[in-house]
Amino acid sequence: MNRILVTGGVGYIGSHTVVELMQQGYDVVIVDNLSNSNIQVLDGIEAIVGRRPDFVNVDCCDYVALDNVFRTYTDIVGVIHFAASKAVGESVERPLLYYRNNTLSLITLLALMQEHKVNHLVFSSSCTVYGQPDPEHLPVDETAPRKKALSPYGNTKRINEDIICDQAHACPSLHATILRYFNPIGAHPSALIGELPNGVPNNLLPFVTQTAAGLRKELRVFGNDYNTPDGSCIRDYIYVVDLAKAHVKAIQRMLGGQAEEQVEIFNLGTGRGLSVLEIIRTFEQVTGRKLPYTIVGRREGDIEQVWADPRKANTVLGWSADTPIPEVLLSAWRWEKHLRNIED
Ligand code: UD1
Repeated sequence: MNRILVTGGVGYIGSHTVVELMQQGYDVVIVDNLSNSNIQVLDGIEAIVGRRPDFVNVDCCDYVALDNVFRTYTDIVGVIHFAASKAVGESVERPLLYYRNNTLSLITLLALMQEHKVNHLVFSSSCTVYGQPDPEHLPVDETAPRKKALSPYGNTKRINEDIICDQAHACPSLHATILRYFNPIGAHPSALIGELPNGVPNNLLPFVTQTAAGLRKELRVFGNDYNTPDGSCIRDYIYVVDLAKAHVKAIQRMLGGQAEEQVEIFNLGTGRGLSVLEIIRTFEQVTGRKLPYTIVGRREGDIEQVWADPRKANTVLGWSADTPIPEVLLSAWRWEKHLRNIED
């Protein structure tokens, strides 16, 4: 049987991907150090799929422990590498933590993949590598130039992409797919797994749902003086379940020998940009809840507007993100209600 090693599989995008993999018949072993995730997520996965994924509590920077995983699970045919630190602000304050966690884990993983002859890697990258694309590059496709990262977090994504390309060059049997995510949101339709931010959320959607649930007094909208139709920032919000399905496609493509290049890169987005104010309005419409918010100043390091040209993923990977945004926002709200035991 084909087993996929999923690092960070207890996390937000990882857990949704584990569900999709298992539903497609793959065996999975999750490696996660639970630094930013909760072990109970495994119960959610089991409740959805009807099987429990194997799980090992290991830090991907720990060569010996990770080596043991490869020795134990000799049926691993591919790796999906989610495990990483991802808070932009924290990365500015603790750059060494980010460079260590994010780059050393990849280096360790690649070394062990080579050692154990595991030749297929999917890597979680981010649209952050494009920075603010020039107007002629919007929507942004994979050929747009990468720009200097605005944070150590963003820089680790760029460096990791380069590490993968260099290793692939040196190791002809290695195939890798780099997936550049736009803004993943929402939760599984079962409301059994979803995003579990620690403390005060940095990202927009968890803050929106926590405000609607009464945990936060109001949402702060970071800026309404951008050069966009309503003045607030524009992003390409992509449903996490659609995103998870792209990982299955990517691994299938490599395992099936269909990859045309040793390293393939895909933008994963919807192709539509939405402003912060549009998200708020749509959320209010679909949930029937009033969302208290105030406009405050811009957040340092924010990009004004970015959205994907996903045509390469559509045509080459045979994948598209087409869950309508009202349904996506509703899934996020159902998950928040499940977490807080809120009745309608
Ligand atoms: C950021 C990173 C992205 C990273 C992601 C993971 C950049 C450019 N982007 O995405 O690479 O993968 O975090 O955490 O570094 N907003 C508010 N109020 C809030 C929160 C957010 O108005 O309380 C606005 C932001 O200004 C932004 C939008 O909502 O316009 C989305 O913000 P967020 O969810 O934090 O994602 P990004 O900053 O796009």
